[in-house]
Amino acid sequence: MPVLSPELKQRLATPLKIGNFEVKSRVLQSPLSGVTDLVFRRLVRRYAPDSMMYTEMVNATGLHYVKQLPKIMEVDPQEHPISIQLFDCRPDFLAEAAQMAVEEGADTVDINMGCPVNKITKNGGGSALLREPETAEAIVRAVVKAVPVPVTVKTRIGWTEQEINILDFAKRMQDAGAQMITVHGRTRAQGYNGPAKWEWIRRVKEILSIPVIANGDIFSVDAAVRCLEETGADGVMCSRGTLGYPFLVGEIDHFLKTGEKLPPPTAVERLECAKEHLKALWEYKGISGVRQARKHLTWYAKGFPFAGELRDRLARIETVQEGCAIIDKALAQLKNMNELNETVNNPFFQKT
Ligand SMILES: Cc1cc2nc3c(=O)[nH]c(=O)nc-3n(C[C@H](O)[C@H](O)[C@H](O)COP(=O)(O)O)c2cc1C
Repeated sequence: MPVLSPELKQRLATPLKIGNFEVKSRVLQSPLSGVTDLVFRRLVRRYAPDSMMYTEMVNATGLHYVKQLPKIMEVDPQEHPISIQLFDCRPDFLAEAAQMAVEEGADTVDINMGCPVNKITKNGGGSALLREPETAEAIVRAVVKAVPVPVTVKTRIGWTEQEINILDFAKRMQDAGAQMITVHGRTRAQGYNGPAKWEWIRRVKEILSIPVIANGDIFSVDAAVRCLEETGADGVMCSRGTLGYPFLVGEIDHFLKTGEKLPPPTAVERLECAKEHLKALWEYKGISGVRQARKHLTWYAKGFPFAGELRDRLARIETVQEGCAIIDKALAQLKNMNELNETVNNPFFQKT
C-alpha cells in the first residue's frame, strides 16, 4: 500500500496550471494512436472526470491539404479538459492545424515531439525534432502566436543513449513559449523497451518553471506515487497501463486526492466494460469500429482462467452481435465460477 506523504499531498493539492488553464487533476490520460478516440476517452472520463485527456496524434500536413476534420480529431462538446495533439515539422502547417483544433474545442494544443515511428520521423516529425531543436522552437513560437490557448509539448529524453539532450531541449521549449512539457523517460532508440529513466524527468523539473508531467511505466497507483516522489513532477501521464483498463487514471486520481485505494474492478465488471466499449465503437464508427474493437477486447480479457481462449475468439469477431454474444457467454461462465467476486489487478502484463 503506497503512502501519500504530507509533502506530496500538499504539492498536489492545488490545480495543475497550464498557462491560464486550470485542471483539477494531476493525472493525465496520454494520447495513444488507435486508442484514445472519443469512445475510449468517454470511458476513462467516467472514472476520472477531472483529468486532462488527449486525442490521437493528428497530421498537420494532412489537415492542410484536406481541410476536413478527421474523425480522430473530433471532440465531444461536453468533454473537458481536452487537448488535441498534432504532429508535423512545418511551423506554418502546425499553426494552421492548431487553429482548427481550437475551433473544435481544444483547451490546449499539444505538439508531438516524441513519436519514434519511422514513417513519422523520416518526415521530420515526432522524436526527429529532438535532433532539430531550432525547428522545434520555431514550431512552438508559430503555434503560440496562432492560438489563444496554451501550447504544450510531449517528448522523450533524447534520440539515443548517447544523445540525451532533454535538458537543453526542454529549456528551449519553455523559452519558445510552451506552457507545459510531458517527458516520456525513454530515448527514441528504446522505443517502448527497458525501464523509463525517471531521473531525467527529475532533472528537467529542477530547471523549468512550467509544469513538467512524468510519463513512462505508470502502470499502477504505487508506480504513480513513486514516480511523483522520485521526480518532483507536477503530474503523471498514464499510457499503456490504460489499455483494456480505462480505470487506471481514475484510480490514481482518487488515491492522490484521498489517500484511499479503490478496490480494483472484478473480472465481470471489466468484461461488462469491454462490451460497452465494443457497442460504442460500433455506434461511432460502424464496421471499422468493430475491427478496431478486437484489440481492445483482447486487452480487457485478462486475469481469469479461460481468458486465453476468450482472447482468441474476440480477436476474430466480424460483427458487434458476435462480439456481444461471446462476451455474454463468458460473463455467464464467470458468474458461475467461484471467482465471481475475485478482483483482478491491472492485467496488461499478466500472462493467463
Ligand atoms: C499504441 C500506442 C500509441 C501511442 N500513440 C501516441 C500518440 O498518438 N501520441 C503520443 O504522444 N504518444 C503516443 N504513444 C506513446 C505514449 O503516449 C507514452 O508516451 C508511452 O507509451 C510511454 O508510456 P508507458 O510506458 O506508460 O506506456 C503511444 C504509445 C502506444 C503504446
